Amino acid sequence: MTTREVLAGELAAARNRTLRLVNFDDAEVRRQYDPLMSPLVWDLAHIGQQEELWLLRGGDPNLPGLLEPKVDALYDAFVHSRASRVDLPLLPPAEARAYCATVRARTLDVLEEMPDGHPGAFTFGMVVSHENQHGETMLQALNLRPGAPLLDGGAALPAGRPGVAGTSVLVPAGEFVLGVDSATEPYSLDNERPAHVVQIPAFRIGRVPVTNAEWQQFIDDGGYHESRWWSETGWAHRCRAALCAPAFWNGDGTRRRFGHLEEVPADEPVQHITFFEAEAFAAWFGARLPSEVEWEKACAWDPHSRSRRRNPWGAQEPTAELANLGGAALRPAPVGAYPGGASAYGVEQMLGDVWEWTTSPLRPWPGFTPMVYSRYSEPFFERAGPRFGSPGTGDYRVLRGGSWAVAPGILRPSFRNWDHPIRRQIFAGVRLAWDADV
Ligand SMILES: [Fe+2]
Repeated sequence: MTTREVLAGELAAARNRTLRLVNFDDAEVRRQYDPLMSPLVWDLAHIGQQEELWLLRGGDPNLPGLLEPKVDALYDAFVHSRASRVDLPLLPPAEARAYCATVRARTLDVLEEMPDGHPGAFTFGMVVSHENQHGETMLQALNLRPGAPLLDGGAALPAGRPGVAGTSVLVPAGEFVLGVDSATEPYSLDNERPAHVVQIPAFRIGRVPVTNAEWQQFIDDGGYHESRWWSETGWAHRCRAALCAPAFWNGDGTRRRFGHLEEVPADEPVQHITFFEAEAFAAWFGARLPSEVEWEKACAWDPHSRSRRRNPWGAQEPTAELANLGGAALRPAPVGAYPGGASAYGVEQMLGDVWEWTTSPLRPWPGFTPMVYSRYSEPFFERAGPRFGSPGTGDYRVLRGGSWAVAPGILRPSFRNWDHPIRRQIFAGVRLAWDADV
C-alpha cells in the first residue's frame, strides 16, 4: 500500500470510532458528565477544527478557515478548560458533524495530491494520532457518565493464565537505545525522539501488571490507612480526597464500568488509581515503580540482536492475539492473556490493557526538537519550582504502554503519555519494579 492509502485508511478508522462515540441524541452529546471531561460535542468539533488547522490551514490559526474566528477559538484546548467547555456557545451536534465531514472531504483531496515521500505525511499521522487520542478521552468521559449504560459490556477477550500475577523478570544492566528516529518510526511524535544510547543498572520488572486481586490484598491489609506506605504528598492527597479503593469500586466486591454493575474481576489489571496510590501499593509490596527508561528497555530492547524491536513481540503489527487495543473490549484483558505478545525479556501486556504509571516526570530527551505542533509536548515539560503544585505547573508523571482504549496504529513502545499524579479517570494501572544486584 502507498503512504496515501495507509493514511486514508487510518483517517477513516479514526473517524468511524469518533462517530460511534457520539452516536447519541443531541442532549446526550451536549452533556458534561464530569468537570474533568468535555461534553462529547466539544471533542467532536475540536477533532475537525484541529484537522482543518493542521492539514488545510498549514497550522496558522490566523489564516481564514471554515468557521467564524470566534467559533474556531472555542475549540482551542489551551484557552478553554475542560470544566468550562459545557458553557461555551458550541456548534450544535448536527453542525459539528457536518463541519467534520466538510473538513474531511477537503483533507482527502489534499492527501490525494500529496506526492510520495512528502514530509507532509507526518502531519497527517499527527492528525490521526490526535483524533484517536480524543477517542480515548471520550471513552473516559463515557465511563464517568452516571446512570444506566449507553454502551454494551464490550467485546470478548482471551482468557488469562494462572501463575503469572506477582512474578517478575530480570533485565540485566547494560546499554540500550532509548527513543526512536523518523527513519524507523516516521509517525513518532517529538517527545519520543531522538534515539540515543542509555546505560542503566539491572532491575526486575513485573511480568504482568498488578491485578485487582493483589490490590484487594493491599486494601484488606489496611494499605490505605497506613501513612508509612505513602509519600508525604501522596498521603496528603489520599487524606484530602478520602481515597480508600480504586475509582469505580463500590467496597462490596463490585464495580461500575460504563454504567454496568459487575463483580471486580480478580485477574484483571487494576485500573483507575492515582500515581500516589500506585507508589503506595509498590512500597507495601516491597517494590517500587519503574522509571520510564526501565519500562522502555523491558518493552523494546532485544539483548540478543542488540537492537530495538518495533513492538515488544517483534516486527509484526498488533493483532487481537497479541494485545488488547482499539477500545472494543471496554476493559483490560486478564493477566497472562497474551503470552505471544511478550517482549524479548519475557514481559507481557506492555502494550494495551492499562497505561502504566512510572516514576518519571515528563522531560525532553537530549536533542529534543519540537514538531510542527510545537505545543504538543513542550508546555508540559517539567520546570523548576515546587513539584505537585497546582495542575499546569509541570507536575506530571509519565505513563507508558497504552490502554485497551488506544488505537493500535498510534502506539509504539516509545510512546509517552503524561498526566497529573492525582488523576484516576484515565485507564491507568501499575507494573512493579525492583532493584537487582546483577
Ligand atoms: Fe486535542
